[in-house]
Formats: sequence, C-alpha cells, structure tokens
Amino acid sequence: MTVKVAVVVGSLRKGSVNRLFAQALTKIARPKLDLQIVEIGELPLYDQDLETELPASVVRFKQQIESADAVLFVTPEFNRSFSAALKNAIEWGSRPWGRNSWAGKPSAIVGATLGAVGTAAAQSQLRSVVSAVGTALTAQPEIYLNFREGLIVDGEITDENFVSLLKDWSEQFADWIARVRAPALSF
Ligand SMILES: Cc1cc2nc3c(=O)[nH]c(=O)nc-3n(C[C@H](O)[C@H](O)[C@H](O)COP(=O)(O)O)c2cc1C
Repeated sequence: MTVKVAVVVGSLRKGSVNRLFAQALTKIARPKLDLQIVEIGELPLYDQDLETELPASVVRFKQQIESADAVLFVTPEFNRSFSAALKNAIEWGSRPWGRNSWAGKPSAIVGATLGAVGTAAAQSQLRSVVSAVGTALTAQPEIYLNFREGLIVDGEITDENFVSLLKDWSEQFADWIARVRAPALSF
C-alpha cells in the first residue's frame, strides 16, 4: 500500500536546495511513500482576524495536510533556526482552535544547508514546535544534509552512501507511519 506524505518545504525560493532535496527524496522513497510537496508560499502572514473567514490558500493548505497520511518537514536553517515561512504554515495548520490539521499526523524532519551544521540547530527547534502542535514525530534516523555542488544532478543524488541512508530512512519512516496509524490495541 502506498502511503501519502505531504511534504512542507521551508524555503520559498525557486532554486532552493531543500526543494531539490525533497524532489530527489521523492524518487528514492517510492513505491512505499508517495511524497507530494504542499506549497506554502501563498499563505498570508498568520493573523487571527483572518480566522473569521479563512483565505482560500489556507483552506487548500489545511485540506492537503488533512488528506495526507503523514507529513514530512524539509527545513532550511536561517539564523540558527527554521524559516519564518515554515512557522507561518505551522500556525495556519494549527488554527482555528479545534481545527488543528496536524493532530495525530505521523511526521518526520529532514533538512539541507550550505553550512557545515546541516540544519542541526533548525531541526532541534522545529522538533519542539511540530510536537507541540500534536504531530507524532519520529526521531530516527536523523538526516542533516550539508549540500554541496554536484550532490544532486538531474534530480538524482550522486552519492551512493547517502542514497542508501535515505532508502533506510524511507523504510523506517514508512514503518513509523504504519505503527502510529495502526488501530489502538485493546486490552
Ligand atoms: C537569512 C539566512 C540565514 C541563514 N542562516 C544560516 C544558518 O544559520 N545556518 C546555516 O547552515 N546556513 C544558513 N544560511 C545559508 C542557507 O543554508 C542557504 O542559503 C541555503 O541554501 C538555504 O536553503 P534553501 O536553498 O533551501 O533556500 C542562511 C541563509 C539565509 C538566506
């Protein structure tokens, strides 16, 4: 069975290495995981006044999250944290009160930077936020990508060891999703 995963990429720019990474990961994760990028660039800045009549982009975004079996956050690192665009998307997903689109979704975090820390600081902060909004976050394996020229060519990752790590990651995320979504045990 293919599992549908909504992919939220925290960078808005066209040439984003995180978007490139998400697209390459999509191929590696098939057929078990069907990764689909959910766009966040058109979401307005979160404003509680807009909750009286949710903007169409927000309604669409929330539906895309709710219809997915799981969520993958692909984060850049901006000033030792994750991006404002990603936090904005998380805010909208969590609101209005009582309509939290994230609740109970199995989730995972990966990320890419040009810097040596490979999003470790951003992921650390993002973990606490996506847990706070009620996603069931898997902790392992961690993927910190220090992006370099030539790593992704024509949409394919050129480093065989990294591909193998990502295959393993995909398997483990699929197992995690199955465990979280399994019917509750009765005693
Ligand atoms: C505002 C800003 C802050 C940044 N801060 C960090 C940082 O704290 N750590 C890091 O490794 N890279 C940092 N970078 C470099 C990013 O890793 C690099 O721009 C990367 O390409 C961003 O991801 P993207 O290509 O998906 O947009 C920063 C970049 C910008 C634009």
